[in-house]
Amino acid sequence: NPLQGAQFMLAAHRLSQLPADEGAEVAFAGRSNAGKSSALNALTNHKGLARTSKTPGRTQQMVAFSLPPPRDGSPEQASQPARRLIDLPGYGYAKVPLDMREHWKQEIDAYLHRRRSLRALVLIVDIRHPLKEFDRLMLQFCADTGLPCHVLLTKADKLSRGAASQALAALRKQFAAEGLHASAQVFSSSAGTGVDEARNAVANLLQQ
Ligand code: GTP
Ligand code: MG
Repeated sequence: NPLQGAQFMLAAHRLSQLPADEGAEVAFAGRSNAGKSSALNALTNHKGLARTSKTPGRTQQMVAFSLPPPRDGSPEQASQPARRLIDLPGYGYAKVPLDMREHWKQEIDAYLHRRRSLRALVLIVDIRHPLKEFDRLMLQFCADTGLPCHVLLTKADKLSRGAASQALAALRKQFAAEGLHASAQVFSSSAGTGVDEARNAVANLLQQ
């Protein structure tokens, strides 16, 4: 697993508290309860790494995880640039107080615009509810700025295989029609669907 060995670094309430802006990181974004933290745990093969919950709005921090350098056998491994994964707070949940939502809207916006080590976004979307307004905003931001985006259509275990592939095909068609450039795949943290594919995608994005 190219994402093995992830470790909790810190939880930040604002951009300035994140680790030094160097090396490469990939951020996980998505609506509240979509399954961001679960996806992070599945990808890193580390169950309790990111806290998950049935209550939407669980992650009210930007949580940074460090990854060890990729094992490519090179002797200068220790001097390789840092790699990180970032769990972003969920958005779109009405019960999170308005001032909190405003705060995160601003912080996520600032993060996306200013974070120089940000290599790509992993957008976590519930396969049963594709592309709500905030998903579109994220995808549009990526299209406008050229930031790579990889969409995980998660909770695929809730659909039949056929329905899941149909949802993926429909999403790709929508991307083409709307000029969006994201890659996408079917995923399930609980069933393990698409986990290897997603690990490789994230590892590749971190290398860019
Ligand atoms: P916030 O931090 O609140 O924004 O949520 P999150 O996006 O981090 O979601 P989280 O990973 O905490 O998961 C939310 C709920 O969805 C939990 O009850 C999970 O067990 C469930 N869940 C996550 N991924 C899957 C999946 O692939 N399949 C199924 N069936 N349930 C899932
Ligand atoms: Mg979470």
